[in-house]
Amino acid sequence: MPISTELTARLGIQHPVLLAPMDTIAGSRLVRAVSEAGGFGILGGGYGDRDRLAAETAKLKGFARPFGIGFITWSLAKRPELLDLALEARPHAVMLSFGDPAPFAPSIKAAGALLICQVQSEDMARQALDCGADILIAQGTEAGGHGASRTTIDIVPAVVDLAAGRVPVVAAGGIADGRGLAAMLMLGASGVLMGTRFYASVEADGADEAKRRICAARSGETVRGVVFDWSRKLMWPSPFTARSLSNDHLRRWTGREIELMQRADQIAAEYAEAKAAGNFDVAAVFAGESAGLIHDIPPAAEIVGRIIAEAAQSLQGRRNSLPSPLVGEGGADKVRAG
Ligand SMILES: Cc1cc2nc3c(=O)[nH]c(=O)nc-3n(C[C@H](O)[C@H](O)[C@H](O)COP(=O)(O)O)c2cc1C
Repeated sequence: MPISTELTARLGIQHPVLLAPMDTIAGSRLVRAVSEAGGFGILGGGYGDRDRLAAETAKLKGFARPFGIGFITWSLAKRPELLDLALEARPHAVMLSFGDPAPFAPSIKAAGALLICQVQSEDMARQALDCGADILIAQGTEAGGHGASRTTIDIVPAVVDLAAGRVPVVAAGGIADGRGLAAMLMLGASGVLMGTRFYASVEADGADEAKRRICAARSGETVRGVVFDWSRKLMWPSPFTARSLSNDHLRRWTGREIELMQRADQIAAEYAEAKAAGNFDVAAVFAGESAGLIHDIPPAAEIVGRIIAEAAQSLQGRRNSLPSPLVGEGGADKVRAG
């Protein structure tokens, strides 16, 4: 049962489900799987590893389904030539998160790609619209990986109101099933962007142990902070911090961040060694609060199919159970299920 929205029309996709451009986790294999399932895969551009980006974009050249490539904007600003490399793969969209999109918007538009901007506040949403964003992602603090402090249920309708129908708004942060998609559509979003749910999929480029830990995590076992960034000597600009699963390393250093910074060389060496050894008692598994809703590691296509079926059922259920003045008019008309 299809769910058509402004977002599906704008991206030319079947389902309003986007894969988040997770660093090195969302590689070309996962992008293909999500796009082939009718969603929109977005390749993680990561922190500017040119060789990896060249290898992954090469695997997407000529891919017939719509797909995107995502960058961490402040990191891209240090190596702006990587945008040209990405655009050579002819993505339908480039997604920019965490920084000023203005310096990159003109080349993205000139290449005929859509500009997707992930934002965490109304000011960031205004900045993105001013430089011609075609789609806004409103990201709540529940999100895995980097983000800020506003909750999804707060930031999504705030950005929907600010966009005022000019561009579709996509919800991100804490969504892992069809109930989440249905709820976000009710808040006025045109779709969802999911990271953590797709991390625990067959095609994600993550370690099996990391995926297993996401499945085993219960609600409330993720933390947002700076410990893992500082343990890698990675200084993110304010207001961004990272959400990850809790582990021994995080418990050891939470509340002792100043000492961690003072011993940065030693900790970074130990951290890199543990990461290379796949020791997730030390190394981070970046994941969001939705980890508590995730219990399996299916193929990405199954995740997309399940979410759409569950959301369509929820939307249909609401239509049938709500008094008639609450359905049919206004916002509900923008979403067509069935
Ligand atoms: C492992 C991981 C890595 C991420 N890396 C990036 C990234 O490189 N660039 C980016 O824009 N967002 C990144 N994010 C955040 C996502 O874009 C998105 O906002 C988030 O995954 C949505 O919340 P969810 O994890 O609850 O689905 C990452 C998220 C995760 C879980």
